[in-house]
Amino acid sequence: MDTDAPNFDLLARIYRWMEYLSFGPMLERCRFRFLPQCCQARHALVLGDGDGRFTARLLAANPAIQVDAVDASAAMLTALRRRVRRDHPEADARLSTTQADLRRFAPGRTGYDLVVSHFFLDCLTDEDVSALVERLVPHVTEDAIWLVSEFSIPEKGWRRAGSQLLVRFLYFAFFVLTHLRVRHIPDYAEVFRRHGFYRHENTQFLGGLLVAEVWKRQDS
Ligand SMILES: C[S@@+](CC[C@H](N)C(=O)[O-])C[C@H]1O[C@@H](n2cnc3c(N)ncnc32)[C@H](O)[C@@H]1O
Repeated sequence: MDTDAPNFDLLARIYRWMEYLSFGPMLERCRFRFLPQCCQARHALVLGDGDGRFTARLLAANPAIQVDAVDASAAMLTALRRRVRRDHPEADARLSTTQADLRRFAPGRTGYDLVVSHFFLDCLTDEDVSALVERLVPHVTEDAIWLVSEFSIPEKGWRRAGSQLLVRFLYFAFFVLTHLRVRHIPDYAEVFRRHGFYRHENTQFLGGLLVAEVWKRQDS
């Protein structure tokens, strides 16, 4: 693929263990916090799902859902497919994978009622997020929900400085490992609001360092 997207290929096999060693089960809790909200969805677009832990659980939890998973990393997509075939072979036919740079990608279909981005929007700049949401909105239904998991820096309090330091370290580590050039968490909430989404539910973990959120376009 001809792109300057960060390259997560080398991390595909060890990503899960890196995560457990650094944050224990907390990122996992964040990702799965709102899985029950996805049980009515029929067409999901999963952005940058990496090794597919969320996609596999989603396919198992919702036997009617079709999932389109998009990621720039061929190795991550291979890990995702392998996981689904191993853990839920009956669900493989409901999964389609595309290797693409999501800073340019536009879906080939409309009618997505679920969009998922777990720890992916932080790989984008504010401008990338704005352009991505603008490109995706015509492809989602009026009652679509968008699940987000992200790192977050508390607005004030003693945790703010520690979170800033940790996030700066994580960006440095990902720059070294993947050549990710982004340096701060984008203000995706402002972009979502501009496009008619509102935050319907959210949960914080680790004192606000991690957030899991459900964004909706309208009450359904
Ligand atoms: C930090 S990992 C997060 C993986 C997973 N969603 C999770 O919950 O841990 C970011 C993922 O997004 C993908 N990614 C990063 N930038 C991308 C881009 N511009 N286009 C497509 N995928 C991208 C990476 O290949 C990787 O799989």
